[in-house]
Amino acid sequence: TKPVTTAFIRKKKETGIPVTMITAYDYPTAKLVEEAGVDMILVGDSLGMVVLGYDSTIPVTMEDMIHHTKAVTRAAKRALVVADLPFLSYHGTVEEAVKNAGRLMQEGLAKAVKMEGGNEIVPIVIRCVQAGIPVVGHIGLTPQAVHQLGGYKVQGRDLQAAKRLLSDAFALQEAGVFALVLEAVPEEVTAQIASKLSIPVIGIGAGVHCDGQVLVFHDLVGYASQLTPRFVKRYTDIGEQIRSAVASYVQEVEARAFPAPEHVFHATEETIQQLYG
Ligand code: KIV
Ligand code: NA
Repeated sequence: TKPVTTAFIRKKKETGIPVTMITAYDYPTAKLVEEAGVDMILVGDSLGMVVLGYDSTIPVTMEDMIHHTKAVTRAAKRALVVADLPFLSYHGTVEEAVKNAGRLMQEGLAKAVKMEGGNEIVPIVIRCVQAGIPVVGHIGLTPQAVHQLGGYKVQGRDLQAAKRLLSDAFALQEAGVFALVLEAVPEEVTAQIASKLSIPVIGIGAGVHCDGQVLVFHDLVGYASQLTPRFVKRYTDIGEQIRSAVASYVQEVEARAFPAPEHVFHATEETIQQLYG
């Protein structure tokens, strides 16, 4: 199986077959989601919430992102691994932004990076692309700006906001992003953006008229994720399975039902005789 490339992702838009993307933050999860056949794995800064227990993505550092990206890229053979640039890692100088994006590739071995923002990040996107760093854009609800936005709310509902999204989307495409994530955007607005752009629009809470979908792994499988926004579909409740498996373990250990004979090693006859006289 050939590894997924950015060209393959772009091309998928022409064929009309949606791009599939899901987050992963560690080796076993990356292995499982890859075996399930996803095109792209996102090492999202959502890891701050779903694996590190923070209540936003703001505390996530470059070191956190590199650490988790390394684990994911060790497992991913086919899927294209995209890593998020965390809060404030691309808001200083353009040089600093390019350096941080480069670290996700050079140290984390990601094949692309994702950054939140529209027109205002165009100079950074241009420089990254010039440096050979493929970039995914992310507009609409941008969680790193949660305190600016006043909460995790749908974006682009009124005409002015919808037009701003359209303008941001065009600017990012022009700057060279190979795909664009739209988060929590009304489907009518998403459909318009997706039909006007030549790059794939990957939605999360953005309706079905996208060129692809992305979800947070922990939300999709019900793995102790606290936030369940309306746009999440929980395909299974792995949390309940884990809880009940561990509860059985606790109960069996306390009842001395585990370990059972088949889990136990034995000394040689001779050793036993001498030990017990
Ligand atoms: O960090 C993340 O998981 C994301 C997706 C929700 C798009 O950015
Ligand atoms: Na993110």
